[in-house]
Amino acid sequence: MQKKLTTLAILMASLFLLHCTGGGQGRKGEDGKYQAIRTEVPERPAGQKDVLGLVAEKIDTVRVGFIGLGMRGPGAVQRFTHIPGTRIVALCDQHEDRVEKAQAILERAGLPRAASYSGSKDAWKGLCEREDIDLVYIATDWKHHTMMMLYAMEQGKHVACEVPAAMTLEEIWAVVNTAERTQKHCMQLENCVYDFFELTTLNMAQQGLFGEVLHTEGAYIHQLEDFWNTYESDWRMKYNKEFRGDVYATHGMGPASQALDIHRGDKLNTLVAMDTKAVNIPEYLIEKRGVERDSAYMFANGQHTMTMIRTEKGKTIHIQHDVASPRPYTRMYQVSGTKGFANKYPTQGYALQGDVLAEGDLPDHENLSAHNFVSKEECDALMGKYKHRIHRELEEKAKEVGGHGGMDFIMDYRLIYCLRNGLPLDMDVYDLAEWCSLAELSRISIENNNMSVEVPDFTRGNWNKIQGFRHAFVD
Ligand SMILES: NC(=O)c1ccc[n+]([C@@H]2O[C@H](COP(=O)([O-])OP(=O)(O)OC[C@H]3O[C@@H](n4cnc5c(N)ncnc54)[C@H](O)[C@@H]3O)[C@@H](O)[C@H]2O)c1
Repeated sequence: MQKKLTTLAILMASLFLLHCTGGGQGRKGEDGKYQAIRTEVPERPAGQKDVLGLVAEKIDTVRVGFIGLGMRGPGAVQRFTHIPGTRIVALCDQHEDRVEKAQAILERAGLPRAASYSGSKDAWKGLCEREDIDLVYIATDWKHHTMMMLYAMEQGKHVACEVPAAMTLEEIWAVVNTAERTQKHCMQLENCVYDFFELTTLNMAQQGLFGEVLHTEGAYIHQLEDFWNTYESDWRMKYNKEFRGDVYATHGMGPASQALDIHRGDKLNTLVAMDTKAVNIPEYLIEKRGVERDSAYMFANGQHTMTMIRTEKGKTIHIQHDVASPRPYTRMYQVSGTKGFANKYPTQGYALQGDVLAEGDLPDHENLSAHNFVSKEECDALMGKYKHRIHRELEEKAKEVGGHGGMDFIMDYRLIYCLRNGLPLDMDVYDLAEWCSLAELSRISIENNNMSVEVPDFTRGNWNKIQGFRHAFVD
C-alpha cells in the first residue's frame, strides 16, 4: 500500500512538473512563452562578407559547362544554343551516350562539339577544373548538387544548379559560406518565378495593385506515377522513401517569396508543417514493383505535406507538396493583399477591392458571385497593362524556344544577361537557402509533433539591407 502511495505521489509530482514545463518538450523564453525549435546558425567566418547584390566582373562571352544530361539537362543545352553571348565548352554525364546525345544538339544547331566528360562518377571534377569555363550548370540528382556547387565555386566558377539545389541545413550553410568566401554567384535554377502569370502578378504587386501583400501560397502538386521509373538509379523514389517533409518546395517558395520581398525588407521567421500518411506510393510500389507490403509502407514522405511560414513583418506563406495523389497539376500560386487577390490555378484570375460590388449595389448574401474575379476582358487588360518588362522583351522568343512554355528560356536568358552585364542575378544564394530550407525544417516540425521551427536568417543579420525585390537591368 505504502509503495502504491509513493508511486502515486511521484506520478502526481511528475505530472505537475510536466504541466509547468510544457511536458519538457518546449523551451520558454524570457516572456514566458514557448519558443520555436532553433537550429544552429554558424557564425560568419572572419574576413568573409555577404553576397547580397553581388556584382561580378562583366563576362563578354559566358563559357558554360553542363553536368547532368538526363531528362532535364539536354533541354538546357538546347536553350543555350539560342542565347547570344554564350559558348558551350564542355558536357558531362556519367553515361557517355547521354553526352553524345547532347553533342548532337550542338551539331544540329551548327555549333562546334564541346569537350566530353563521362565514364566515371568523378569525371565532372575535370570539367570544373577547366580554365576556360565561367559558369557550371548542374542538372544532376538532388544528392549530387551541393558537392558539385561547392567544388565549382572553389575552382573559381559561377554556378547555376537545378532545384532543389541543397537538401539539408548542413549543405545549405556550406553553400552560403562558400559563395561568401569565394564571392561567386550561386543561383538556383528556379524557373517558376519567370512564368507568365507569376511575373505579371509580381509586377502588379510591386506597383501596389494588391495593397499590402499579406499572404502568398505555392505548391508542387504533381502525380509522378508516370515518371518514377525514369530517374537515374531511382534517386527520386529513394529520397522520398527516406525523408519526411517538403522535399520539393522551391517551385512554390520562389514566386511566394519574391512577392513578399523576403530578405529584401522582410524575413522568414517560423514555420509549422504537417503531413498525411503515405498511401498511393506504397500501393504503387506493391502493385507495380512487387515490393512487400511491410517494406513498401516503410515510406517516410507523407502523401500530402503542408507548411505554413510567418514572417518578421507579420505576413504568411502556405506551401504544399504532393507527388502521389491523382490530382491535376497545380502550383497553387496565390497572392492576397489588403486591396486585391491573384490566383493562378485552376483558372487565372484577379479580384480587386473596388470591383467586389458595383457602385450603388447592396451586398446580396444569397449571391456569392458578387464576390468574384474581374471579368475575362478585365483580366486580359490587366495582364497586358502590367506585363513585366522581361516578358515584353522576351516572351516571343521564349515561346519559340520553349521549356515549360518559355519560362525555362527566360530563366537561362536572364542568368546570362546579368553575367554579361555585371549585374546582380535575379536569385541569390540566400534565396536558394531559404527556399531549400523547407526540406529539413518542415521535417523537423513534422517529426516533433508539428512544433514551430525557426527559419534561420541565412543573411546573418543583413535581411533588411536591400529594400524590395527588383530585377536588374542595364538601363
Ligand atoms: N525546374 C524544373 O522544372 C525541373 C524539372 C525536372 C527536373 N528538375 C530537376 O533537375 C534535376 C535533374 O532531374 P532529371 O529529371 O533530369 O533526373 P535524371 O535522373 O533524368 O538525370 C540526372 C542525370 O544526372 C546524371 N548524374 C548523376 N550523378 C552524376 C555524376 N556523378 N556525374 C555525372 N552525371 C551524373 C545521371 O547520369 C543523369 O543523367 C533534379 O534536381 C530535378 O529536381 C527540375
